[in-house]
Amino acid sequence: MKVGYKSEYGAVGFAAATTGALLLVRQLKVALAAIPVWAILSRLIARGSTNRARAVTVGSPKDAQSKARVVLHKDMTLKERPLAVVTGTNSGIGYYTAVGLAVEGYVTVITCRSRELAYKTASRIRTEAEKRRRAHPAKYANYPETVVVEGEVLECDNFKTVRAFAKWFTEKYGNHNFQVLVNNAGGMVDSLKFSKHAPTLEHHTAVNFLGPLLLTDLLLPLLEKNGGRVVNVSSAAHRLPQYTLDGAKSLFIDGKVGAVGLVKGRLLETLKQLNQGDTKAAGPLAVRDVGTAFARYGTSKLLNIYHAHVIARRYLKAEEAHRVYACSLHPGCVASNFPNYLNAVPGLMTIYQTLGTLFLKTNEEGAQTTLHCALCPREELELVVPVKGSGEETKVSPYFVECADKSTVSLLSYGWDVKEAEAIIDWGRKIVEKA
Ligand SMILES: NC(=O)c1ccc[n+]([C@@H]2O[C@H](COP(=O)([O-])OP(=O)(O)OC[C@H]3O[C@@H](n4cnc5c(N)ncnc54)[C@H](OP(=O)(O)O)[C@@H]3O)[C@@H](O)[C@H]2O)c1
Repeated sequence: MKVGYKSEYGAVGFAAATTGALLLVRQLKVALAAIPVWAILSRLIARGSTNRARAVTVGSPKDAQSKARVVLHKDMTLKERPLAVVTGTNSGIGYYTAVGLAVEGYVTVITCRSRELAYKTASRIRTEAEKRRRAHPAKYANYPETVVVEGEVLECDNFKTVRAFAKWFTEKYGNHNFQVLVNNAGGMVDSLKFSKHAPTLEHHTAVNFLGPLLLTDLLLPLLEKNGGRVVNVSSAAHRLPQYTLDGAKSLFIDGKVGAVGLVKGRLLETLKQLNQGDTKAAGPLAVRDVGTAFARYGTSKLLNIYHAHVIARRYLKAEEAHRVYACSLHPGCVASNFPNYLNAVPGLMTIYQTLGTLFLKTNEEGAQTTLHCALCPREELELVVPVKGSGEETKVSPYFVECADKSTVSLLSYGWDVKEAEAIIDWGRKIVEKA
């Protein structure tokens, strides 16, 4: 049985263990025995699925992925080899996504926020991938022999760097077999902040949504040429916008999952009110409290899902060889550098990551759903309908959790609103086109 949200169950299990231990504190021996048992259980639950997806080789005709279009073999030229771009790779999920793709024979182009970091990170990823290849020579016997990783600079909210990256990439790799764009870079801040590069734009809108939107638009012609795919790293936090939009009392209240949710322009209106710079920002998303910070982050992650919908729907009727697929995913709760606002208190991040290793996913475990989406057969990326019987009109790109399509059970009702999605993507495009 496939169960989503395992890392969240791990977190709940760990919390239960801690409470239980506190209750049992008078019976110290029982408490001391219970803690490690719970910690181990939480760790196992948090781990979740392992990656089922692997690149296909000629040597494995019975492979469940035989329907994939990319079939690797060791005599491929560099230009024939599938190529992936992964953003935000110097830490966390992005690093292990890049390692996984490089091990699987993909020419892997990675980005970081500075050129120096990009070069160093590419070298670390190459070394790690080569080590993994050497450890399993038989497994990779049919794969292209070399591990190819190259790093370049890209800062999502600095649109000039996004354009410069796309230009460099198109010139250098325009004739290669570009198959996968992983929009991974992103994060959360716990206060109302605006981009230093584009001061009218709110941090999450600029970094998590507009930068990836511009990058994808610039690279889409190359993906179209090769029939590639776009993988957007979203989050279960995509549910949080209803906190502000519907006045829900709790951040974690659930919408009618699987139904067609109608935002009716309210989200777009809220985004317009928010993205007016520090002094003019207004509306429900501009409130300066921590709850609303989570809602701002969650909104940007809902926009990642909308973005995938708009791409996938655009190519719905395209010729298969040039059809671009798109999907989004929740990686689980991962003990990465993600809550980097914790750095404000010395040592807090270290405590978070140390405790996190017990009940959250490790960075590598957190990369598995992204890797699955990057490597799985294209048929797994086929569009889905919210409820049985609903037609083409409402078809959206799939949303993955724990390496499986969980759209109908996990996607918040707002997540199906294709009209709102199209309107917001149009709005976003107008902003980045001018930048
Ligand atoms: N960790 C979780 O529990 C979790 C849950 C759901 C979704 N996610 C999503 O997973 C993705 C990866 O996050 P992570 O958990 O691996 O965190 P992470 O370790 O902090 O990695 C984030 C990466 O994004 C880069 N980045 C941040 N702001 C950027 C910008 N303005 N321009 C370019 N790159 C930027 C970071 O670079 P720097 O090091 O230079 O900042 C880093 O390489 C994010 O999109 C996040 O929203 C994470």
